[in-house]
Amino acid sequence: MKILVIGSGGREHALAWKLKDSPQTEKLYAIPGNPGMAAIAECVQQISPTDNAAVVAFAKENGIDLVVVGPEAPLAGGLVDALAAEGIKAFGPAKLAAEIEGSKAFSKDLMKKYGIPTAKYEVFSDAAAARAYVKAEGAPIVVKADGLAAGKGVVVAMTEEEALAAVDEIMEGEAFGAAGSRVVIEEFMAGEEVSILAFTDGKTIRAMIPSQDHKRAYDGDKGPNTGGMGAYAPAPVAPPALVEEVTRTVLEPTIRAMEKEGRLYKGCLYAGLMVTADGAKVVEFNCRFGDPETEVVLPLLKGDLVEIMLACVDGNLADVEILWSTGAAVTVVLAA
Ligand code: AMP
Ligand code: GLY
Repeated sequence: MKILVIGSGGREHALAWKLKDSPQTEKLYAIPGNPGMAAIAECVQQISPTDNAAVVAFAKENGIDLVVVGPEAPLAGGLVDALAAEGIKAFGPAKLAAEIEGSKAFSKDLMKKYGIPTAKYEVFSDAAAARAYVKAEGAPIVVKADGLAAGKGVVVAMTEEEALAAVDEIMEGEAFGAAGSRVVIEEFMAGEEVSILAFTDGKTIRAMIPSQDHKRAYDGDKGPNTGGMGAYAPAPVAPPALVEEVTRTVLEPTIRAMEKEGRLYKGCLYAGLMVTADGAKVVEFNCRFGDPETEVVLPLLKGDLVEIMLACVDGNLADVEILWSTGAAVTVVLAA
């Protein structure tokens, strides 16, 4: 098979590396890829990953059998829909399903409606009302931009002043653009975080091995929140019993909810969870593999990633066995 990976990060390198392992893989392409990936994939830098028409044309011209979409922006922009419309198989959720990450307000409302455990919250499009809520609730409290902000639109405020400043910055500053027109303000959850990624065909969902990423920019868990500076797996905070609990209380109810909402969810569902004193609660959903989590999860996957991804696309994941090695993996992010 000819396989095209969309994206340019460490995550996409890990995806390409694991896809390359499959006996079904004949040739790998990446749009745009990166210099690390160039050793295993033909990188096509002149096409933008969010230019749906150009990606579809490339896939047709090159007889691509499977497209694997890494980042959220092309998923939110409907790349999987555009490929499917031309009969090209693509791993990842369609545009309507990708909204589970694209709008925090949507995902929080979904969790409330279907009883999926998460922090208490309110959504505001008016800054004065948001400020009044912060004052009424007090700190610690969490302020989030509603739209896509690459994991960076969140302020965990330990004081009321910090929370008020975050509301002003997100809603009135320039930094977040459209993502900042609404804020979600939520209850602070104390606990340890874990990332549980899962393969799903929209009906069956299978958790991957749990991992943990390190959010703070600097050593010693200091500095601002980031999209993740490193990760390891498996995460001891999530032993098999907790993964089973999360599958039952979070993953399965979420894909059933998405189906009921007419947003059948296929691909990788990423549940960011807080393990609190009263069980695991959802911090966020992402519509894609985590970065850097993928770099530690996929090396522990035994077997054929192409087979698993095709089963997700074709709707027969229930027939595929997914096995994990007993080892451990760690990754460190080097950032400018
Ligand atoms: P998010 O983009 O929603 O995943 O938030 C980014 C990070 O902020 C999370 O990974 C957590 O470390 C932290 N965070 C988000 N929401 C909460 C919350 N309600 N309580 C405590 N920490 C949170
Ligand atoms: N590592 C966090 C994320 O992928 O969103």
